[in-house]
Amino acid sequence: EKGGYEHFMLKEIFEQSRSIRDCMRGRIYPNEGIVQLGGIKEYAEKLKNVDRIIIVACGTSWHAGLVAEYLIEEYARIPVEVEYASEFRYRNPIITEKDVVIAISQSGETADTMAAIEMAKERGATIFGVCNVVGSSIPRLTHAGVYTHVGPEIGVASTKAFTGQVTVLTLMAFYMAQQKGTVSHSKLVELLTELDCIPEKIQRALESNEMIEKIAAKFKDSRNCLFLGRGSGFPVALEGALKLKEISYIHAEGYPAAEMKHGPIALIDEEMPVVVIATKNSSYEKVISNIQEVKARKGIVLAIVTEGDTEVRKMADYCIEIPDSSEAFLPLLATIPLQLLSYHIALMRGCNVDQPRNLAKSVTVE
Ligand code: M6R
Repeated sequence: EKGGYEHFMLKEIFEQSRSIRDCMRGRIYPNEGIVQLGGIKEYAEKLKNVDRIIIVACGTSWHAGLVAEYLIEEYARIPVEVEYASEFRYRNPIITEKDVVIAISQSGETADTMAAIEMAKERGATIFGVCNVVGSSIPRLTHAGVYTHVGPEIGVASTKAFTGQVTVLTLMAFYMAQQKGTVSHSKLVELLTELDCIPEKIQRALESNEMIEKIAAKFKDSRNCLFLGRGSGFPVALEGALKLKEISYIHAEGYPAAEMKHGPIALIDEEMPVVVIATKNSSYEKVISNIQEVKARKGIVLAIVTEGDTEVRKMADYCIEIPDSSEAFLPLLATIPLQLLSYHIALMRGCNVDQPRNLAKSVTVE
């Protein structure tokens, strides 16, 4: 059942090229520049005029929501708020019938997310679900939705579910952009053509597995680890940190790279590994100066870089390459090495990677 892999987590990490392909199947037409999402088709008109989108989720699904915030605002130009379901439900938030709420949940059973949906529904909002488990509770509570279709995820740590959620949310952002006309047809053709190649690029990113295992050996005895990123690299940093803490029990924090000097920089010394998303995109130069700040304090830098990078390589202690892509798809690629890194570190520390202590696959109590 583990398909020859030692653990479900590793199997699920390696499935991602295929699972992302499954998730996009029948939904994108790159040559025509069209995104089709049958699940929310009835709401196409509503999406044209929506003033605001609220995303509710927990854990990794909340990180996928943060990625969606960048994409929806960038491409569909709709303001987005991303909320922890557990906070949202108890805050008496302002919601009206004009709002669209997107609830993201792999299991479709998370108690706080369900309660947030119920509250928003009572106040008249339109609710979309982004779930993986077909027929689970959340898809039944929502007005419409889009399944991730990545197949069952057994490992407690979310891996292929996360990239599936990000893929669906990317499709939703493009779909909204298409409805609103905020992205030209030729740009959509270009974006979808590139998205269509992401599964192959994920496959390439997975080829670094052995190298990542060697790097993991250097980091395995760390007590803390900082993950930094900017733009949509920031939610990737949060997700990298969550993966590491939940399966290896190493304390880890994800931070927007620029926030480092407002506090966490005080933690940096020769024992502090700092994982930096330093791919070639709009924040590249800024991230390079953040790396210099870490190196000046003798921190150990592991950088996730674009294939062929030479600049960061001069400064970082270790580099892991991922294929080049537009910024829109960076989270899908940059997450892969971080999943592998936490997997190998956890394994070397003798942890139960598929069933970490104190954690359940779905959190059905608040
Ligand atoms: O099933 P859900 O997506 O609603 O679950 C939300 C979180 O409990 C989940 O993502 C959790 O954070 C994972 N263990 C992270 O790997």
